[in-house]
Amino acid sequence: MVGHGKKMTEKIKIQGRQIVNGVVPISGAKNAALPLLAAVLLSSEKVLLRNVPPLEDVKTMLSLLDDIGVRFHTRVDSPYASTIELQADAVNDFKASYDIVKRMRASILVLGPLLARFGECSVSLPGGCAIGVRPVDLHLQGMKALGATVSLKDGYIHARSLHGLRGTEYEFPISSVTGTENMIMAAALADGKTILKNAAREPEVIDLANCLNKMGACISGHGSSIIEIDGVANLHGVDYTVVPDRIEAGTYAIAAGITNGCVDLMGGNFRELLPHFVEKMTQAGLIFTDIEGGLRAESSGRIYPIDIETSPFPGYPTDLQAQSMALLCIAAGTSNIHENIWENRLMHVAELARMGANIKVTNTHACIYGVDKLLGAPVYATDLRASFSLVLAGLAAEGVTVLDRVYHLDRGYSKIEKKFAGCGVKIERFR
Ligand code: EPZ
Repeated sequence: MVGHGKKMTEKIKIQGRQIVNGVVPISGAKNAALPLLAAVLLSSEKVLLRNVPPLEDVKTMLSLLDDIGVRFHTRVDSPYASTIELQADAVNDFKASYDIVKRMRASILVLGPLLARFGECSVSLPGGCAIGVRPVDLHLQGMKALGATVSLKDGYIHARSLHGLRGTEYEFPISSVTGTENMIMAAALADGKTILKNAAREPEVIDLANCLNKMGACISGHGSSIIEIDGVANLHGVDYTVVPDRIEAGTYAIAAGITNGCVDLMGGNFRELLPHFVEKMTQAGLIFTDIEGGLRAESSGRIYPIDIETSPFPGYPTDLQAQSMALLCIAAGTSNIHENIWENRLMHVAELARMGANIKVTNTHACIYGVDKLLGAPVYATDLRASFSLVLAGLAAEGVTVLDRVYHLDRGYSKIEKKFAGCGVKIERFR
């Protein structure tokens, strides 16, 4: 993992038995901001993106756009949000290099826009990451279906469509979030109509399509599994606000549940953005109440065992699986989690076990036998969402937990110390 020097050694110390009580301002969604930033490449006009979260992954995407020649200026609006003004009118390079792509797989999202706008690009193959091989074969199949020629050489994807992309009908064999996003962006400037079947339905896909339509694209059906895109000649600039982060909201809801607390998740309609999560967490003993500008999540005082099957939206989000497992470690009974999206997204189990959790893993199925309490311990983060599940376990545990490899956390969660401080909880970062 490429880190930034001293950031590689940062740790977080968590005193146990803390209660999370307060208001949490939810930032813009990482998984919406990243495709929206890539979409800037589709126009030569000025794009203003508001409510952009101050995350490491956003910085990585900005450095990738900078390499390509996109000009941008960032204005910090609050500790939790920035407005970024970008313009891709002087793009001089169509290459996404390996040293950036290996830091963040979502870099693949520049493939569709570069191909659609400039007719060629070279994007490093992302390579795997902790949670799995994470292939991009569906992205390449989709680009070929739009008429591009695609070849692989020296670890790079070389794609060309010098006569422009042509509308097509493409059915995803499996639902792919960034695969759908790449196809929507490429088809937006293709000649003719594109119909995507078995398209991803995630709110972040909807956010991208809404933004592109404001830029002059002609997209319909987003949010359903059949999306239609009528290609247009070009896209104009836009002033757009990033949708709030449902995964961050769900994460802090679990923080209230695991510490017998109560949080007001502000900044979005999280009951609508997390339908199945709210349903399942209610069964687990959380109480959700709609409030002005957000959603209140509070503990009922007990945690009940539940069974979770992760699946594409509107199913249970895989990005909340690790956090949910931390909660279920101290449920009054036995729970089951089936991780159906990623082949290796149970690495937090070993670290939770070091804290006294009793979990049995068979392939991608975890059986969690609830224990009375967890015990603080030195643990390390293996991936973004696993890192937060260990923070949650540490808040509930007896004793002190020290989390290593905190750079994983900073990729997808901003100002965690500040947001927890607003809930009467102290966590301490040190080197
Ligand atoms: C997006 O990743 C998210 N990232 C992930 O969030 C999230 O876990 C995932 O969707 C599932 O919801 C962003 O949006 C930036 P996929 P993505 O393509 O698009 C297989 C986080 O924690 N597949 O929907 O890369 C793949 O192996 C991150 O914020 C292929 O086989 O995921 C997986 O089993 C982690 N070939 C399934 O599809 C392909 O070409 C779903 O993957 C593409 C995907």
